[in-house]
Amino acid sequence: MKIAVAGTGYVGLVTAVILANTGHHVTCVDIDENKIKRLQAGDCVIYEPDLGELMADNMERLTFSTDAYLAYQAADVIFVAVGTPEKADGSANLKFVYNVIDEILAAVDKDCVIALKSTVPVGTNDKLQLYIDKNNQKDIHVELASNPEFLSQGTAVHDMLHASRIVIGAESDFAKNIMVKVYETMDLPILTTNRSSAEMIKYASNDFLALKISYINEIANLCEILGADIEDVAQGMGMDPRIGGKFLKAGIGYGGSCFPKDTKALHWLSNYHDNEIKTVKAAVEVNSNQKIKLIKKARKYYDSFDGLKVAVLGLAFKPETDDLREAPSLDNISILVEDGANIYAWDPVAAENFKRFFPDELTYCQTIEEALENADICFIFTEWKQVIELDPKKFLAMKKPIVLDGRNCYDLNTMKQHELVYDSIGRKSIVNL
Ligand code: UGA
Repeated sequence: MKIAVAGTGYVGLVTAVILANTGHHVTCVDIDENKIKRLQAGDCVIYEPDLGELMADNMERLTFSTDAYLAYQAADVIFVAVGTPEKADGSANLKFVYNVIDEILAAVDKDCVIALKSTVPVGTNDKLQLYIDKNNQKDIHVELASNPEFLSQGTAVHDMLHASRIVIGAESDFAKNIMVKVYETMDLPILTTNRSSAEMIKYASNDFLALKISYINEIANLCEILGADIEDVAQGMGMDPRIGGKFLKAGIGYGGSCFPKDTKALHWLSNYHDNEIKTVKAAVEVNSNQKIKLIKKARKYYDSFDGLKVAVLGLAFKPETDDLREAPSLDNISILVEDGANIYAWDPVAAENFKRFFPDELTYCQTIEEALENADICFIFTEWKQVIELDPKKFLAMKKPIVLDGRNCYDLNTMKQHELVYDSIGRKSIVNL
């Protein structure tokens, strides 16, 4: 099949590479000329494990172009994977989606399906179909199908190759059959629904996961007060198959480009329809407090960070990504900078991106050791493998080994054996100095 993909962000590029890997010919379109040039040269512009290798293996079926007209004209299916950024009121901004639809209508001259991967408010696909029907001047059938994406950054290739489900929201057999054909060689469970249900599955899934995280974080905060241990509590809860152990990791809250945006968007949509979804609102509120929980804890040890050497381990919103969108590190570092801290930060891939927000205010370290040396306090914002595997003795190189761990990277019994302060989330603090 001939496939085009609009947008070469995380979702678009991964979709394109995986579909090329199943044997389809895929043309990726982006307005960013520089990005397209790099992709043409085989440079996999985003940091995503295994994507570069898979892209290299499938280059003969992949084309990268800024020429939307040519790409869309010949395609049987056009995937739309452009951004739907959040507007000031929390609703989704659809201008990029509309732009692509206009380009598609100008280019196509045969029947085709537009598969919308971008996360859009429930009802948008139907509205877009009306827009298409009104503006399609040609004697061809152009139909929209909703095909939400469930991959996570950092494990995107694995998630798409082994997807728990492919959801296809279609209103006719024409669109449904073409979409099923796109995925038929991947041997994955396919659920077909109407378009609105497919859109809702995406929001309801992301928001449920965000809710689960906020719930466990609130339980963690209570564990700290009551002397329970959140790691044990989460394990015990997760053993119940009705609850499940995933997304019960307490910490300093969720970030990224999806949960923060999708929770606010669903809340906005529910309010718009005068049917407020209160659980999601609560998850958002809990998360914004949770993000700065470590700083609040750190005030137990220092009234002010002015002039202190502050070590920061991890900047990305989660490991295995260079993405900083809504990363708790941004909130925390803004406070530390404001307070006059001398921040020495380490992150294996996100430091370059962080320099765009804080070019001169931080010292960016090549090694964890450099960040820790002589530091007055250390904050862990991301559970990178290198942090988890760090020998706790390395913290003893700090002037005052006070370690504030926002991701519960270490075992309490191990940390007890060292002369340090170790304060994590939902567990007893160790004060051994
Ligand atoms: C999320 C969903 O997991 C994907 O299924 C979805 O396709 C994607 O959004 C999207 O809508 O495009 P992603 O944002 O890449 O994926 O990252 P997650 O792995 O879900 O993590 C999100 C945040 O939750 C991270 O900040 C992570 O640290 C935090 N988290 C996750 C926790 O605090 N605790 C957990 O137990 C799990």
